[in-house]
Amino acid sequence: MKSSLIISFIFMVCCWRQIIADTPANCTYEDIRGLWLFEESTPINDRTEKCDNGRREYTKKIYVRLDFPNTAVDKFGNVGTWTLIYNQGFEVIINYRKYFAFSAYERKSNSKVISYCHKTIPGWSHDLLGNNWACYIGHKVNDWNSSPLQKIGSEQFPIKEHIEQPLYLKNIDLSHALSQKHVDHINSKQKSWKATVYPEMQSKTVEHLIKMAGGEKSRIMSRPKPIRATEQQRHEARGLPESFDWRNVDGINYVSPVRNQGNCGSCYAFASMAMLEARIRIATNNTAKPVFSPQEVVDCSEYSQGCDGGFGYLIAGKYAQDFGVVEESCYPYKAYTGKCKLDYNTTAKCQQRTYTIKYNYLGGYFGACNEEAMRIELVKNGPIAVGFEVYKDFMTYRRGIYSHDSDYETEQKVGVEFNPFVLTNHAVLIVGYGRDEKSGENYWIVKNSWGEQWGIDGGYFLIRRGTNECGIESIAMAATPIPN
Ligand SMILES: *[C@@H]1O[C@H](CO)[C@@H](O)[C@H](O)[C@H]1NC(C)=O
Ligand SMILES: *[C@@H]1O[C@H](CO)[C@@H](O)[C@H](O)[C@H]1NC(C)=O
Ligand SMILES: *[C@@H]1O[C@H](CO)[C@@H](O)[C@H](O)[C@H]1NC(C)=O
Repeated sequence: MKSSLIISFIFMVCCWRQIIADTPANCTYEDIRGLWLFEESTPINDRTEKCDNGRREYTKKIYVRLDFPNTAVDKFGNVGTWTLIYNQGFEVIINYRKYFAFSAYERKSNSKVISYCHKTIPGWSHDLLGNNWACYIGHKVNDWNSSPLQKIGSEQFPIKEHIEQPLYLKNIDLSHALSQKHVDHINSKQKSWKATVYPEMQSKTVEHLIKMAGGEKSRIMSRPKPIRATEQQRHEARGLPESFDWRNVDGINYVSPVRNQGNCGSCYAFASMAMLEARIRIATNNTAKPVFSPQEVVDCSEYSQGCDGGFGYLIAGKYAQDFGVVEESCYPYKAYTGKCKLDYNTTAKCQQRTYTIKYNYLGGYFGACNEEAMRIELVKNGPIAVGFEVYKDFMTYRRGIYSHDSDYETEQKVGVEFNPFVLTNHAVLIVGYGRDEKSGENYWIVKNSWGEQWGIDGGYFLIRRGTNECGIESIAMAATPIPN
């Protein structure tokens, strides 16, 4: 028990780590919206070829205007769609081709990073059937005829420079945050959830790890309000049950077992695999119960950063569509970023990959999510992958409906705000929702990947629903796997 608890805490720590290391680009919606020139290579017809190794001839030019909220228009008037992926990059679908690239950035030194939001690093394109793969580079341009030489330069585009905090932070009083006093304070302030003291968390090693994990005060972003539900969504949501749980639909459980991500910021891969697993169980009435391999994603995906983080949209969605995922038995979990083994074990299981036929942010694009859209998707199609902010009070969660009172944070003079960048410093899977009879409080039921010792029901937690608590209603996505 003791060691498993310590392990759980290390997991929490590791997930924070990803804030430091998804790509350091920090580009906003407004940075990306506008006219782009994509310079594309001739098709390479090999989806395994890397696009980031330079020295490629970009022979084709495609002009695309990215409009509000998610409309893409090309030079010939063809209309498609696009979405920002958090602050990291964007995906465009136009003329039956998909384009995805991360925004460009440069590490000036250990701590200084510049985002070049008006251009991308080399990305990937292919048609909607997965054929004719190519690489491309995107640049913002001034007009539909700009030659590549007239790309918008940094002089026309505000360069965003920020300082990454050194990993080691001073003055974080974690022993207070995790102390009986703090836990008592949380428990006395509200009745909705119970905190507990985990003595193991105060051990030196863990504290040190947490310090190392919590950098980057400068990446705090304000939390946007979710977009209002449309009339259609509200109408549809009214027809849904008061409560719902994929672990118990008329007595049947469609959710795969809780797992443990270990000392690796791979929560995004676990949440992604968990969604695909549950949705295959649902599609096959539990006759197929695959467990998919997060390690293969950690080692092999170019759409994420291994143990340093990633996003459900790019894994359960894009990676599973473009490359497929394999079963755990084929590529077992190791909890560190290893070299991609392309010629896996030649067992039968490894021959077969599972693909997603479609994927999307709920509402259609990043920024369009709301509670109604989430409940509709959940009940209709299965569990949904979400991101949310883990604050340090979450570490003490034992049971009840979690909500974060920023009071706990500011009250103690912590030298540097611990971690609050982001809606997605942790990725998890929503499997249901309900309402507490006594308090009338609405909640989500969420599957975590910190092992079965943590939280309630062997690895789950409840979190307040309907208020975008910790950003949990801001970046939900769904992907539909094709059962084999
Ligand atoms: C990222 O961008 C947001 C919005 O422009 C800004 O508030 C935030 O400070 C930026 N973070 C860093 C680290 O530059
Ligand atoms: C689905 O599985 C349940 C439980 O095994 C079974 O009772 C039911 O008949 C199955 N439904 C269909 C349509 O096969
Ligand atoms: C191959 O598969 C077996 C059984 O599934 C597993 O024990 C072994 O670790 C795998 N080998 C590699 C190199 O992944």
